[in-house]
Amino acid sequence: FDVSWDAAAAEKGGWSSFMAKEVAEQPQAVANTILGRVHDGQVVIPELDGLDELFIGINRVIITACGTASYAALVGKYAIEQWARVATDVELAHEFRYRDPVIGDDTLVISISQSGETMDTLMAVKYARERGARTLSICNTQGATIPRESDAVVYTHAGPEVAVASTKAFSAQITALLLLGLHMGRVRQTLTDDSAVAELADLPDKIASVLEKENDHVAQLAGWMADTRSVLFLGRHVGYPIALEGALKLKEISYIHAEGFAAGELKHGPIALIEPGQPVFVIVPSPRHSALIHSKVVSNIQEIRARGARVIVIAEEGDAAVLPFADEVIHIPLAGPMFEPVLAVVPLQIFAMALATAKGLDVDQPRNLAKSVTVE
Ligand code: G6P
Repeated sequence: FDVSWDAAAAEKGGWSSFMAKEVAEQPQAVANTILGRVHDGQVVIPELDGLDELFIGINRVIITACGTASYAALVGKYAIEQWARVATDVELAHEFRYRDPVIGDDTLVISISQSGETMDTLMAVKYARERGARTLSICNTQGATIPRESDAVVYTHAGPEVAVASTKAFSAQITALLLLGLHMGRVRQTLTDDSAVAELADLPDKIASVLEKENDHVAQLAGWMADTRSVLFLGRHVGYPIALEGALKLKEISYIHAEGFAAGELKHGPIALIEPGQPVFVIVPSPRHSALIHSKVVSNIQEIRARGARVIVIAEEGDAAVLPFADEVIHIPLAGPMFEPVLAVVPLQIFAMALATAKGLDVDQPRNLAKSVTVE
């Protein structure tokens, strides 16, 4: 099954940058990741046909990747543990290989790479195979080296990504991991609730709605903040990797110091950074999924607000609890817990892009960075 790419798709079209185009393409990219992989209310991934043995008899999953792909991996950890009930860890590829990891034929090593050529990730995959692990790659580039070195591949079909900072490949990677988690849950007979499968189909429209409703708001916010020297990002549960990704996007293209933290860590250190006027983005999980997690994040917001932080909240529509403590609220549509990251990341991509543009920077070709790092 192949969604083919054409030369025209690699052109900028009417967009000011490839990054702007790729951010806008996310509904289509995610729709292409899902296409042909849901049948009769179940996830069926044709590439994994006849490969059930990859997922049965394992007692551990390690997801390995670099950069943005490693943050997609972190979301995948939550989904795979939830649905497939197998212990899942995320390892940066360059760390994984240079120690002596405990892996063997009971381990599934999932690699994630947009390009499929990142040397660190490739070497981690080869290393895992030599140690007898089963290997599966999530990749955006047909026929790339990493999928060729793996036992199986799930392509993201997001289309060519040209801007150095990854956007649509990231949302497609998370989507592929959600599909994989649901597929594994079915094969391993651990998936007790199929409702997430039905949600997949709505995801592209929900991303489109964030783009439509929040683009101008977020861009305006970034314009006001062009002189900001540091921005912090807080998230909890699957919002935590999104905090990391929001900070990475800002560092990559606007050269502003940015840090992402797990909201629960605030009291263990980062709160010392809060001084009056410090901008902090907080990704707030829906209270419908867990009133407890939601209330913890709201109390984090109160703590930083009391110290003068400028709080920019990303919360689901109708979340009234955050309103009294937020300077700005960016809304995302209601979605299941594992789907929120794909929606919450969109305003952070727009923010980074608008801020870099306000500073007069080239968002597609940030200094010192390469799209694909093929050296170790
Ligand atoms: C480079 C790029 C990043 C990317 C990372 C991993 O550092 O600048 O945007 O996230 O490589 O790339 P991959 O192709 O393996 O996903």
